[in-house]
Amino acid sequence: MIAIAIDGPAGAGKSTIARKAAKTMGFIYVDTGALYRAIGLYMLQNDIHSSDEKAVCAELSKITVTLAFQGGEQKVLLCGKDVTPDIRTEEVSKAASAVSAIPKVRDFLFSMQRDLARTKNVIMDGRDIGTVVLPHAQVKIFLTASQEERARRRYKELVQKGQKAEYADVLKDIEQRDYQDSHREIAPLVPAKDSVRIDTTGITLEESIERILDTIRAELKNLNETW
Ligand code: DC
Repeated sequence: MIAIAIDGPAGAGKSTIARKAAKTMGFIYVDTGALYRAIGLYMLQNDIHSSDEKAVCAELSKITVTLAFQGGEQKVLLCGKDVTPDIRTEEVSKAASAVSAIPKVRDFLFSMQRDLARTKNVIMDGRDIGTVVLPHAQVKIFLTASQEERARRRYKELVQKGQKAEYADVLKDIEQRDYQDSHREIAPLVPAKDSVRIDTTGITLEESIERILDTIRAELKNLNETW
């Protein structure tokens, strides 16, 4: 089996790029952020403060989170209900970031992520895939872009969706989330030592996908694997 780990900060374009690369290569694309988002959503729905470690942990035994793949698209089920469209709000982003700093939450989701890569060729994206979840992944990419560029992209996306947004607020959210994700004690966002760093600041989505595919092919060629 081949595993490709793509880690990086929020808004670097990981999911769009990884999804397209997986499609081109015929791999399953696994978006691990969706798992943390599902748990964040559960806490919001049940009026539990996502950074209240004790309260969050007390709920875990009542929660099931599963991933399903239909026609190559990932769906996330929370207690059996498809919540795929509900986990993409800013509120859920914040709750996901908070619950992801809790060690028991990470343990809860760990084996599911690792098991997926046991039976399928995967491109898995997240924050700790190359460092913790799949330390033996054949290819590891750390995908990033400047905070300003990521804020610009997110702002444009929100405006296009017709949502009210201020660029300064979006930038502040990104700065806060970067800080939270990279300073937590457990599985912080850091590039794996053996990862290839790709910076998408100033390049288009198409160029970013090309760069990732070129990198993956070159890395696999080094391992005598061709795709
Ligand atoms: O990639 P995303 O924005 O959907 O992730 C949501 C949150 O989940 C993010 O703030 C960090 C966390 N996360 C994580 O800690 N580890 C992962 N492998 C994936 C996401």
